[in-house]
Amino acid sequence: MATPTVITVKASGTYDILLEKGSLSNIGQTVAERFKTCTIAILSDDKVFPLYGKTVTESLEKAGFRTVCHVIPNGEQSKTLDNVTDFINCMTQAQVTRTDMVLALGGGVIGDMAGFAAAIYLRGIPFIQVPTTLLAAVDSSVGGKTAVDISAGKNLVGAFHQPSLVYLDIDTLSTLDAQVMRDGFAEVIKYGIILDRKLFDTVAVPGSFDLKSVIARCIEIKRDVVEQDEFDHGMRGLLNFGHTFGHAIEKLSGFTITHGSAVARGMIIAAKVARIYGFTDYTEIITKVVKDYGFETDCPYSADALYSVILSDKKRSGSDITLVLPKEIGRCTLEKMPAAQVLDLMKKTGL
Ligand code: NAD
Ligand code: GLY
Repeated sequence: MATPTVITVKASGTYDILLEKGSLSNIGQTVAERFKTCTIAILSDDKVFPLYGKTVTESLEKAGFRTVCHVIPNGEQSKTLDNVTDFINCMTQAQVTRTDMVLALGGGVIGDMAGFAAAIYLRGIPFIQVPTTLLAAVDSSVGGKTAVDISAGKNLVGAFHQPSLVYLDIDTLSTLDAQVMRDGFAEVIKYGIILDRKLFDTVAVPGSFDLKSVIARCIEIKRDVVEQDEFDHGMRGLLNFGHTFGHAIEKLSGFTITHGSAVARGMIIAAKVARIYGFTDYTEIITKVVKDYGFETDCPYSADALYSVILSDKKRSGSDITLVLPKEIGRCTLEKMPAAQVLDLMKKTGL
């Protein structure tokens, strides 16, 4: 196995993100080099565990760890408090203590839930992220946001809890459905637009670049943002580019439009809004890349419909809304404005 790429995050906890191809069967040795022998409680889903569970558990056990596995149905509908409680009960029964660890083996759903369980179990135990989707690799496994969904909305119950290690074997992405992989690319394109023109140019033509280098660059960007604003009081908001409109589209579709597809359309709306707001127009260039990845570009909902969902967002601050708008490709800004102005801008885009 080649030497992994190592990216270190210095936040409230300092930890390494290790990226390599074909490294999964080596996870036990790597974890043993960094942490004392203990029990590792693995949370995974019923799509990922049959693919990679045996490799991970055998490797950890060979390195001297005891493993306890809890597998839940795959998909966003599993990201519930009840499922976190079940996982915690499993840990209790297995006598997992504060010197033991949690390991998330899966995409963003598993990572967010395992992280949240680790944050609250015994007032917090360490956890390891083993991301297996592109979205989890470039975004959710880094930065310590953990959460579950409740009936009032997505991610409304959670905690900041940084992982102690992120272990990414890029080969695990080879088994992803094409649509799940494509959804991850919406986030990759997002990083390029918000903070890195060179990355945007690199990924503009699908399939024309080295995936490992692109993932590493996205992680570096997220690392830089998290190190400056771990608790999301300011510039971490840039990561929401395309998401204010995207979340509204996702919700209005009853979640039949996937997250990545909704964010892709949300980025186009943000570009149009930026133009009306007085910034240079980047609609064409953003629309082209979104289209080239095979995403739909039209928003099927009116400005009024989107606005009603945006207004109900519990994370909104007072009567103002902060939009992430592109000033140029590779440089976005946070623009706080009255909610009514957002509706006006959206209407002027023709929605
Ligand atoms: P996901 O975890 O539901 O995974 C998508 C699908 O791919 C699932 O069916 C899963 O079983 C399957 N899958 C995962 N890895 C696979 C593999 N290697 N091979 C085959 N199938 C595989 O979804 P996601 O897109 O990874 O994550 C979305 C979640 O991430 C949302 O809940 C979102 O709120 C959260 N999120 C969190 C953050 C954060 O900072 N914490 C950031 C962005 C998104
Ligand atoms: N994915 C958004 C964040 O980590 O802040």
